[in-house]
Amino acid sequence: MYLGGFCLMAWNLWVTARSGEATDGEAMVLDTPIAKDEVPWTRVAFGTPVVLTALVVGIFMSIAVMSEVASVTFASIGVFVAISGVIALQLSREDGRPTWHRLVEGRAVIFTVLTALAVFVGGVAELIPSLVINRAEIATVRTRPYTPLELEGRDLYIREGCYNCHSQMIRAMRAETIRYGEPSRLEDSIFDHPFQWGSKRTGPDLAREGGRYPNLWHLRHLADPRSTSPGSNMPAYPHLTTARVDLSRTAGKLEAMRAVGVPYRPAELSAAREIAQAQAQAIAADLRANGAPVAPDSEAVALIAYLQRLGRPQGNPDHAAVVTAATPAH
Ligand code: HEC
Repeated sequence: MYLGGFCLMAWNLWVTARSGEATDGEAMVLDTPIAKDEVPWTRVAFGTPVVLTALVVGIFMSIAVMSEVASVTFASIGVFVAISGVIALQLSREDGRPTWHRLVEGRAVIFTVLTALAVFVGGVAELIPSLVINRAEIATVRTRPYTPLELEGRDLYIREGCYNCHSQMIRAMRAETIRYGEPSRLEDSIFDHPFQWGSKRTGPDLAREGGRYPNLWHLRHLADPRSTSPGSNMPAYPHLTTARVDLSRTAGKLEAMRAVGVPYRPAELSAAREIAQAQAQAIAADLRANGAPVAPDSEAVALIAYLQRLGRPQGNPDHAAVVTAATPAH
């Protein structure tokens, strides 16, 4: 559509140009006395509006490195300076003398430089965080990819459309962090293909769901949400308890993730089925011990593995030993 728009624009320009007709006639052009070189360029380039804008932008940018209290104070100062500055500029206007805006319009070079600077500020604000951040370090040191079983659970999460009601993205706002926990960071979703951030919240955000409830709670909740959460309007998913995960396809899924940059080791790929089974056994054993026997290869177990992993980029500590033991070292 984007490129199509360009073609349409080119066609439009061509047709418009062709439809133009040459006309003979007279026009009056005024030789206005303003915007000539009698005003030194420094007065235009460093005029009061430029200084004011730089000041306000500087104040707002400093918020990035401040604490919550200080940033609110500085934001208020920024708004105050901006408003009073504009008022002062309006009041200091003298009749008959060209305004700064008229002057800058007539000076193409200065106008271009200032415009470029203004655009640059926005670009810098967007670029710096992504350049400063060390993606490689995050991907290898601060995170572990999903285990094979968690990856299967994730596919079920997508298949069942859980994302239609649940987001996985906690914004850095007070109301959200109080309810859901730490704001989401890059490592929470760096291995997600596709990501599950979302914005639709019929149910609560699940970005930090891991470890919040026992496995048994999740099993009961998935089979019948009303049994754990009276009044819940979440649909029941009882079929997950009986349907089985086809572990013969798991290695292929890991391979696909590897193709898009998730650092699975070849040993993990070849042992995907065994690692998944070991983790599933651990969850099933826990459920059985709590009076809810369910087949280890049931879809519910895989989905629970995934839910318990959310918000734990280093992996689910409860299963770390089991998963490591099942993973070949080479
Ligand atoms: C129609 C919307 C809807 C869909 C679809 C949905 N949920 Fe929910 N979910 C809710 C609502 C509402 C709640 C809050 C009440 C409750 O606990 O049941 C909830 C709560 C939850 C919770 C508990 C969150 C917490 O911390 O209290 C989990 C976990 C959960 N859902 C997982 C899932 C999974 C997994 C799926 C897909 C298989 C799913 N949900 C599909 C609406 C939905």
